Amino acid sequence: MLNNNIYLIGFMGSGKSHWGQVWSHEYRIPLLELDEAIIQEAGMSISRIFDLYGEDRFRKLERQELHQTEGVPYKLVSCGGGVPCFFDNMDWMLANGIVIYLKANPDQIYDRIKDEIANRPLLSSLQTADDIKGYIRGSLEKRKSYYERAHHIWEVDDVRPNSIDSFIN
Ligand code: S3P
Repeated sequence: MLNNNIYLIGFMGSGKSHWGQVWSHEYRIPLLELDEAIIQEAGMSISRIFDLYGEDRFRKLERQELHQTEGVPYKLVSCGGGVPCFFDNMDWMLANGIVIYLKANPDQIYDRIKDEIANRPLLSSLQTADDIKGYIRGSLEKRKSYYERAHHIWEVDDVRPNSIDSFIN
């Protein structure tokens, strides 16, 4: 059994939800999608929360949902891309579980998210592919120092990342 929650972190489109679902199925452990929990609690989409209340409010909701995972063991938690970069969320996750950074390169991220730009509040105002690619590169650079504090960094670009086997017995 798992001793701690496993927090999956990484940029949008890096495969947190995908691998979360694969591992949840494979190891029969529940998966919590933090964004989904916020949507349920707020009764509206992430884009709508940004539109109506702004990013600051969203980040507070995100922290609130994150803290609600405390003491709920044996869970995989897929975190929105910004979670590690606000408040003391990264310290909190490092202290409360196992943190895995799923690291994808900017081109792969672009390919995975290019058809869903409208639903992503941080990207929806960008006009061209170059704007979006530039944003991804810039934001990844800014977030790197947060993401790379993870207990484990797994490349997810071409191959299946390591497995969470070793955290389960
Ligand atoms: C965000 C990532 C999104 C979502 C919100 C903000 C970010 O989640 O939480 O749009 O700041 O990177 P995913 O990484 O699951 O797409």
